Amino acid sequence: MKITVFSGSHKGREGNTLLMVTEFLKGAGEAGAETELIILAEKKIGYCKGLFECWLKTPGRCSIRDDMDELLPLFLASDVVVFACPVYFDNVPALMKTFVDRLTPLLYPHFEEVEKGEYGHVKRFDKVPDLAVISNCGLPGQSNFQVQSLFFRRLARSLHTEVIAEVYRDEGEIFRGKDNMLLKPLLSKYRKLLRSAGRELVERQVISEKLREALEKPIVPPSIYIKFGNEEWDRLIKENKLA
Ligand SMILES: Cc1cc2nc3c(=O)[nH]c(=O)nc-3n(C[C@H](O)[C@H](O)[C@H](O)COP(=O)(O)O)c2cc1C
Repeated sequence: MKITVFSGSHKGREGNTLLMVTEFLKGAGEAGAETELIILAEKKIGYCKGLFECWLKTPGRCSIRDDMDELLPLFLASDVVVFACPVYFDNVPALMKTFVDRLTPLLYPHFEEVEKGEYGHVKRFDKVPDLAVISNCGLPGQSNFQVQSLFFRRLARSLHTEVIAEVYRDEGEIFRGKDNMLLKPLLSKYRKLLRSAGRELVERQVISEKLREALEKPIVPPSIYIKFGNEEWDRLIKENKLA
C-alpha cells in the first residue's frame, strides 16, 4: 500500500502538523506501507486560474507549469492520500486550498447525478485514492474541525472517493510544550496513539472507534490548557517586546 501525505502547514517542517504526521507515518511504515511525505510549503504551486484550461485546452493537464506536474501523478499513484494541515479560521489554510483547487484536472467537465439529488463532475481516471485527514487546531474542542471535516468529505465526494480516516487534535499548541516534564508522558502517550492510527489504517483501512475516541480525548482539561496557554502567550508577548 502506498500512502502519500500532502502536508499543508504554512510553517512547513516546523509545524505542529508535522509532529502528528511523523508519528502516523512511523506506524504506517511499521505495518508495511510505502510512505511518502510532501511538504506543500516547499513546493511551487500556483493558484488555479479558473479558466478551465485543464478541461478545454490541455485535457487532464493544467496549463500552469509548476510542481503540480509531479504532484498530480503522485496523487493518482497512491492508494491512500492523507491531507494534513492545521485549522485556519475553522477551515483549511490557503496553501492546502490552493493545492486542492489544482486537483481539477482529475475530473471531466461534464455533469452527472452522483447520488439522488446530488450532482458532480464525471471522473477522468478509473483509480482514485482513498482519502484520510490529519489536522490540529489551537483551541480546545473537537467542534473546531466541523468545517474541515465537511470540506474533506465534500472533496472526497467530488473526486469519486471517500474519507476513510480522520485524526483531529484540538489543543494543538500543546506540542510546543514537548520538553515540559509534566507534559512529556502525556505527549508520549498521544504519539503512541498516532502510531497505532497509522498501523490500523494500513492493516484495516479504517481507524477503530475505540482508537478514534482515545485520539480525540483532551490531552489536558481545557481549563488547564487555557490557563497555561494564556500565560505562555503573555510570556511570548513580553519576550518579543524586549527583543
Ligand atoms: C491565521 C491562523 C488562523 C487560525 N485559526 C484557528 C481557528 O480558527 N481555530 C483554532 O482552533 N486554531 C486556529 N489557529 C491555530 C492553529 O490551528 C494552530 O496554531 C496549529 O497548531 C498550527 O499548526 P502548524 O504548527 O502545523 O502550522 C490559527 C492559526 C493561524 C496562524
